[in-house]
Amino acid sequence: MATTTIEVDAAASSPRHAKLGRWVEEVAQMCKPDRVHWCDGSPEEYQAMLRLLVLTGTAIPLDSAKRPNSVLVRSDPADVARVEDQTFICSRTREEAGPTNNWEDPAKMKQKLAELFANSMVGRTMYVVPYSMGPIGSPISKIGVEITDSAYVVVSMHIMSRVGSHVLEVLGEDGEFVRGLHSVGAPLGPNQPDANWSCNAQQKYICHFPETREIWSYGSGYGGNALLGKKCHALRIASVQARDEGWMAEHMLILKLISPSGQVKYMTGAFPSACGKTNLSMMIPTLPGWKVETIGDDIAWMKFGADGRLYAINPEYGFFGVAPGTSMKSNANAMLSITRNSIFTNCAMTLEGDVWWEGMTAEKPAKLIDWLRRSWTPNSGRKAAHPNARFTAPARQCPVIAPEWEDPKGVPIDAILFGGRRAGIVPLVTEAFNWRHGTFLGATVSSETTAAMAGKVGQLRRDPMAMLPFCGYHMGDYFAHWLKMGTHSSAAKLPKIFYVNWFRQNKNGEFLWPGYGENSRVLKWIFERCDGKVRAKETPIGRIPEAADLDTAGMEIKTAQVDELLSVDIDGWLAEVPSIKEHFARFGNHLPEGLNAEVKSLEERLQAAK
Ligand code: GTP
Ligand code: SPV
Ligand code: MN
Repeated sequence: MATTTIEVDAAASSPRHAKLGRWVEEVAQMCKPDRVHWCDGSPEEYQAMLRLLVLTGTAIPLDSAKRPNSVLVRSDPADVARVEDQTFICSRTREEAGPTNNWEDPAKMKQKLAELFANSMVGRTMYVVPYSMGPIGSPISKIGVEITDSAYVVVSMHIMSRVGSHVLEVLGEDGEFVRGLHSVGAPLGPNQPDANWSCNAQQKYICHFPETREIWSYGSGYGGNALLGKKCHALRIASVQARDEGWMAEHMLILKLISPSGQVKYMTGAFPSACGKTNLSMMIPTLPGWKVETIGDDIAWMKFGADGRLYAINPEYGFFGVAPGTSMKSNANAMLSITRNSIFTNCAMTLEGDVWWEGMTAEKPAKLIDWLRRSWTPNSGRKAAHPNARFTAPARQCPVIAPEWEDPKGVPIDAILFGGRRAGIVPLVTEAFNWRHGTFLGATVSSETTAAMAGKVGQLRRDPMAMLPFCGYHMGDYFAHWLKMGTHSSAAKLPKIFYVNWFRQNKNGEFLWPGYGENSRVLKWIFERCDGKVRAKETPIGRIPEAADLDTAGMEIKTAQVDELLSVDIDGWLAEVPSIKEHFARFGNHLPEGLNAEVKSLEERLQAAK
């Protein structure tokens, strides 16, 4: 093959890692960028890239007095969320990907991708971004290298992961890394000016090759489609590694709950996209004396320690959080995390050069520029910010970030929470009888779809462990892996498992529970259950608080409302059983017998209670 000479920036020393060097060279020859830039992760590099984004019209600097060192980026309306329909797990066989993933034969997909990627970076710079998911040097951390032609991705990766030359040092001459290749799929002609947001409106492919630990992402520049360290690496590829190596890669927040007497418990929580992880991870308890500190808001990697406890690290370095609904009232710590050094995407802009989104202030500004760059007033009859508008901010800026959030050994987990958006049926909180029952609760999570993914909002679907879009292999085998993890330790040392639902509604469609900081009342009950200090009521679906034990002091809530939140609707649950069976039937003989046994006993307990 004829090779083209491509300008490589002077800063790049040829890497000591021969395999990495060869791969970068091969990709450059395929994609034909004008330049190759090796990212060093320095603050100077970040600033230079921000200036470039502003210069090319992709980013607008926000008023530096209001929001120092921050920018607003507006994407193409065809590129606003994860594309699950175009996300593929290209394992050797369709069976290995399982019934919940799109699958294509790896060789066939590589061929298709090679055609798409050929010359895809013409007129652009190809950035090589070495990153670490997890604190550098932690035994749980993993290294990846993302090649991308998007400067927006580079600055986002700077915030969301640990990027830089020091990662190459850890990689040494032959260290293992995940190869991520990303292109927006929009090569530039000789005098063609770049678009404000580049993407490929026709074709998007987010492809994973679990066997070779590779990601190829084409056509989108947005969020989880493009910041490959996040969902693609830290969940889809990592879930396969975790299965192979005996650990867990989960779509979970990690929080530290401190009681008034200074006792500490660590909890993780798996809720589907846009269902409250960021909010819970940094909430301000309304209960006096209680405190929450943040370890992570989206992803947890967990491994059993020598002491038999499950330890979690946050593999990320920043937050990529849902903007709409975030306010000083709902999530003050998020608002304080994004006062500077932040990137805002698809938010509206105020006339004073700041950002705004629905729910940020009680009163809407009289005039805005909406996310589609049109002028907007409260009478426009449309949203000013896209419902999946996001902020990107360094985790260290969170006022309640836990001092141990970068501890390489992780934090020992006392409780695991599952949850979703369910208007009916699911009580405020349910404790699992044991690990297997907890795995069953996680495996049956159902939730309404949100704007975090392209498609219809508000559709009820099963989203097991909030991993439906993120599990890199057969979900039945993933359930089996969960059950196996429960045999690693004694019941006393395993985290207790709970199912929470902040979204139960009354007949008028109003939330029964105020949520946000008031969720601390539920966390307190969970905390005390971990210590066996509070009672629980045995019900067919699990253990539920006695109404008197849910601390509602100082809260304006009617007794009837609390009763409804904690009620177990036996007929409603019996009606749920066939849908659980149907859900499980999808997994065929990959469904572990233990979960079948759980549906059976649930049905029996419900029948007996009738
Ligand atoms: P991803 O980043 O997509 O994974 O989302 P997430 O799970 O971190 O969700 P996030 O905390 O960003 O919340 C999403 C939306 O749910 C926001 O609009 C919140 O305001 C809203 N929300 C969060 N917690 C609660 C709650 O306790 N009650 C109610 N009613 N809404 C909530
Ligand atoms: C999610 O959708 O769960 C997110 C946002 O956290 S994204 O990074 O786009 O996946
Ligand atoms: Mn998420």
